[in-house]
Amino acid sequence: MLPRLENAGLIICIDDRDFEIGVPSLVNMERAVDNSRHTLVVLTPAWIHSEWTEFESLLAGTADPAGRRRKLIPLMLKSCNLPSRIAMLTYADFTRSPEREAQMTRLVRSLGSAAETLSHPDSSKQRPHAVTVPNPFGDTGRITDSDQFFGRKELLRQIFEELGKGVNLSVVGESRIGKSSLLSMVCALGPERMGLPPETFAYLSLAWVDDEDDFYAALCDKLGLPEPLRGYKLTRALIDKSIILCLDHIEKMAWDSFTIYAHSQLRGLADGPAAPLRLVVASRSPLMHLFSDAPELASPLAGICRQLDVGPFPPDVVRAFLAHRLRGTGVTFTDSEIGALLAETGGHPAKLQRAAADLYNVKRKT
Ligand SMILES: Nc1ncnc2c1ncn2[C@@H]1O[C@H](COP(=O)(O)OP(=O)(O)OP(=O)(O)O)[C@@H](O)[C@H]1O
Ligand SMILES: [Mg+2]
Repeated sequence: MLPRLENAGLIICIDDRDFEIGVPSLVNMERAVDNSRHTLVVLTPAWIHSEWTEFESLLAGTADPAGRRRKLIPLMLKSCNLPSRIAMLTYADFTRSPEREAQMTRLVRSLGSAAETLSHPDSSKQRPHAVTVPNPFGDTGRITDSDQFFGRKELLRQIFEELGKGVNLSVVGESRIGKSSLLSMVCALGPERMGLPPETFAYLSLAWVDDEDDFYAALCDKLGLPEPLRGYKLTRALIDKSIILCLDHIEKMAWDSFTIYAHSQLRGLADGPAAPLRLVVASRSPLMHLFSDAPELASPLAGICRQLDVGPFPPDVVRAFLAHRLRGTGVTFTDSEIGALLAETGGHPAKLQRAAADLYNVKRKT
């Protein structure tokens, strides 16, 4: 979402990168907001319950550098109950994905003309991001917003094609290469690409579960079952279903807290043409190296999943990614700087984001 606003000419920056280290956060925020025209409040349940709500709203009432009253512009990302002072305001509603495009246009219009500065409270951290200078790089964690996700077109094409044929898939790639983001895109883009209802797609990261009981509870929740089931009852409850399940960090199933019963149940649910589950699993190592229960069950899923490797971005994608993110920022990278980024990161997306963010900061100051 932020790159979209930047492409519209708005100036947005991130506290992690732009706040001066050693200075109290409040001071950093005040400095940032001093230069801004608007306060963009990202509404989520976490933000509503955070201690920053009053502060941001107060800032919104103050005057900008040109003496104009700052606007408070609410943007609802996740449904939540609004405090009365915000409930009075019309907000951009991003809770329904089909309407996001129209809401984005509306939001850009409300934020006004190009090259304004705005403050962006990041509700996930429950404290605001004060925004003064743009840096379009440095995303962290799994990318869930398709506007932020770049490249991987051929891989996604293959994934949707194979899923359409009923094939289970195992996505394998080194640390931070973009596996979780890819799985998220399968869920985000799958409904349109495969012409299936959104509820056909489910994402579950095993990083979220503690043990086998927790896994069944999370699995049943994600599959829309009213209560945790396992064994025959689970198989029976899924009999008429057809779900594409993206299981992230599948290596955790090889831990001691999971038994061969869970392995074989998952296999049973995804094996065969009439199986209720179609799997897309992600791991750093190939499935056949992960599980070692017993020789005959050594790789419970390897035999039923086609492996797809996720590699670094090729040079042309790196160039396109850099150009895409730099658009509208006023900063450009020279050919030799791009060459150095390529050599340093080898096109590894997370390393590229970090190195490009650093280079951007240097260039912005010059
Ligand atoms: N398609 C992409 N477009 C832009 N950035 C990406 C993309 N894929 C990955 N990244 C960058 O890499 C980071 C790590 O992505 P992600 O968490 O999906 O990797 P991962 O392979 O699941 O990592 P891990 O091995 O830790 O599970 C993202 O925060 C982002 O900075
Ligand atoms: Mg991951």
